[in-house]
Amino acid sequence: MKLAVLNGPNLNLLGTREPEIYGTTTLADIESRLHVVARELGIELAFVQTNHEGALVDAIQGLRGTADGVIINAGAYSHTSLAIRDALSAVAIPYVEVHLSNIFAREPERRHSALASGATAVLCGFGAYGYELALRGIVARLANRG
Ligand code: DQA
Repeated sequence: MKLAVLNGPNLNLLGTREPEIYGTTTLADIESRLHVVARELGIELAFVQTNHEGALVDAIQGLRGTADGVIINAGAYSHTSLAIRDALSAVAIPYVEVHLSNIFAREPERRHSALASGATAVLCGFGAYGYELALRGIVARLANRG
């Protein structure tokens, strides 16, 4: 089983970016932890981080036929990007939307997600741990256990 973990704009700054909201764990820390979990689960992982909407669309299109599932934190594009939502629908790969913060407890403009209605699940508010929960959840679902 192959999973892709996609991260959008400003998530490369995790660790130092507004730590009171996003915590002090870096994206590299998240990546290493997910590799440990992936080994435990016996799956393959690919990671992408980009600050560009079109690059996220390209990355999603490139997953067609190669990934069984996607974990995506599209950052601010989550709230606005029909292009990313369309790309996810086009490749028809199950995805889990992740946010470190609880977007529903934040400013009104963050309480809507353009991606959520097509997602297998949405996880927000667990900080960096949310990625691990999402990975375990989607693998269980894909293996028909969840
Ligand atoms: C975020 C929430 C978004 O509103 C914000 O723009 C981000 C990070 C999160 O992980 O909590 O960049 O996706």
